[in-house]
Formats: sequence, C-alpha cells, structure tokens
Amino acid sequence: MNRKYDLGALVKPLCSWYGENKRSMPWRDDPTPYHVWLSEIMLQQTRIEAAKAYYERFIQALPDVEALAQVSEDELLKLWEGLGYYNRARNLQKAARIIVERYEGRLPADYGLLMELPGIGSYTAGAVASIAYGVPAPAVDGNVLRVTMRWLGCRDDISRGAVRKEMERSIMAVIPGNRPGEFNQALMELGEVVCIPNGMPLCGQCPAAEHCAALASGRQTEFPVKPEKRARRIEKKTILVLEWDGKLLIRRRPETGLLAGMWEFPVMEGHLTMPQLREILQERGAEVVKLERMESGKHIFSHVEWHMRGYRIALLGTDGQEFTSTSVWADRAELQGTYAIPAAFRSFLNQL
Ligand code: ADE
Repeated sequence: MNRKYDLGALVKPLCSWYGENKRSMPWRDDPTPYHVWLSEIMLQQTRIEAAKAYYERFIQALPDVEALAQVSEDELLKLWEGLGYYNRARNLQKAARIIVERYEGRLPADYGLLMELPGIGSYTAGAVASIAYGVPAPAVDGNVLRVTMRWLGCRDDISRGAVRKEMERSIMAVIPGNRPGEFNQALMELGEVVCIPNGMPLCGQCPAAEHCAALASGRQTEFPVKPEKRARRIEKKTILVLEWDGKLLIRRRPETGLLAGMWEFPVMEGHLTMPQLREILQERGAEVVKLERMESGKHIFSHVEWHMRGYRIALLGTDGQEFTSTSVWADRAELQGTYAIPAAFRSFLNQL
C-alpha cells in the first residue's frame, strides 16, 4: 500500500461517530440492493433532502427491478422529471433489463459484475456491494476524496483516475470486514455534515480531528486539490410557448445529445426580437392573436448555460402549425401527468 494514503487511524473514531450520529434516510431503513442502487444513482447529482421525495415516489411506482425493466420510457422519464441528467434513468432501465435477463432480477453481489452494468461505475458498485451485501469494497466519491485528502494533508490532484484508484486501494486496506457499508457511509456522511465543501469545515465537530493534517496546518480549505473548472459555454435560446384551444405545443427532442428524448417547448437559436419572431410566424402562416414577451430564464447544465428569452404566442387555428412531425398539442393534465418536461422549461410553464 502507498504509505502516503494510510487511513488506519481514521477507522475507529469515524465508525463510532457514525454509529451515534447517522441520519435516517429512506434507503437506509430498508437497504435492499435495488433500494441502495436507486438511491446512489439519484444522489450522484441531487442533494439528499431533495432526493428523498423522488426516491419514495419512484419505489412506490416501480417497487422492484422487474417493474423498472418493464416501464415505458415516457413513464420512466416522468418519474425522473426534475432530477435532471436523464441518462441516469435510461441507464437504470438498461441495467434492470440485463439484471432480469442474466440474474433473475437480483443485482449481483460481485463488485466486478456490478461494474459491467450500464450507469454503474466503481463508486456505485462499491456502494451496492458494501451497503446492501456487506461485501468489503470501496465507494469513493467526491465527499470521500475531500475527507481523506484533508485528513491526510495530501495534495495529489483528485481529478486524476490514478489518485482515485490509489484511494480505493487504501480504503480496501483498512475497511472493517464486518461492516464495510457502515464505514463507507460514515466517510460520505462526514463529508456531508462536518468536512463540508465550499469554505471552512466544522472541525470542532469532527471525530477525526486529532490526526487531521489539514486541521493541524490550518489550511483545510486548500484541500482537496483539483484543477480549476473550465467556464461553461453560454448559449442564447428563444423559447416559443404556443397556445391553441387551451393546449400548448411541445415536441420531442432528438434521441441523442442534451436532454435526449425529452419533451420541450419549441426552441430557436439566438435571442429573437419581437419583429423577427413575428416575421417567422407570418412566413409559416400562423394566425397569431396574441404575442408577448415572457420573463427570461436561465438554466445551467454541466457544460453549458442556456440564457432563454421566452414568448407566449396564442394562435387562432393550428392548420399546418405542427412545426415538426414530433410535436403534439398537450393539455394541462397531459403536461402534468404524461410528458416529462425538463426543469429548463419549467419556469416558462409556471408563468402561464
Ligand atoms: N451520499 C451518497 N450516498 C450516501 C449514503 N448512502 N449515505 C450518506 N451519504 C450518501
């Protein structure tokens, strides 16, 4: 083992602290492999408090792997609506189908077999193996890297795959064989409530403060070391909220790329002015009875930001206004219950 990453003295204080302080979470109360898997996928990009309600609703609708394998894509995306990063939901279903086919609907307990499933990387494989099956396996995410690198006072760049791998090996070397899931969750939990990101951690509450190198040097916020993020690209968009007969026009996005396969209000590139838009609508023969600006919106994706200008456009008729073959006129109930509208468009829907 790399001596630099020796976590031995962290194990005992961390585990006793966790035993006394662990928070209750719905997936912790009944940690079946399916529950652990689903929760870990949700928690990858969603805060714990926000994920709880989605999680409860999801397992109510799809209580097991078979149900997930069989659900329609529209229903699945509807259950995921608001969580973002929709490929997570698609990969869940792909994996569920494989689990039904190969493993009779039960997730494998083996770290390597778990890693072969779509959407499951080393972190999720380790979490499922250790939390649901009690198999010693590391589950290293950003929280864990922050906690451990601070405690070790190590300035290795955590964005490097080799550094993560080394940390996984180091955790394997000290993970308690009788409760690996508790240890992994204790590391995550410490990172979430004590050794927090963005500013000073709450070292006064830390069970591992005694041997913490970052605390000893007073340089806690300098860890973990990672390269500056590149600035996001900004894209200007115009959103058309077309109304006719109490319905709104939505269309399906292409099957690949950003928000693949999701439903959206028609989007045009750039910020169109009112006269430009009027001209476009006229060219298409639209009978416009009302055209007004809406409040602008902004949505942040991982690599791009959309700056959106919105127009509300009421039409008299819909002759030829289906704009594309993939669009439908949806009423309120359908927008609520049938079609998954990504958060990027919600602010426009909410203004109506
Ligand atoms: N973050 C992600 N998964 C978690 C878990 N099982 N416990 C605590 N925090 C987490």
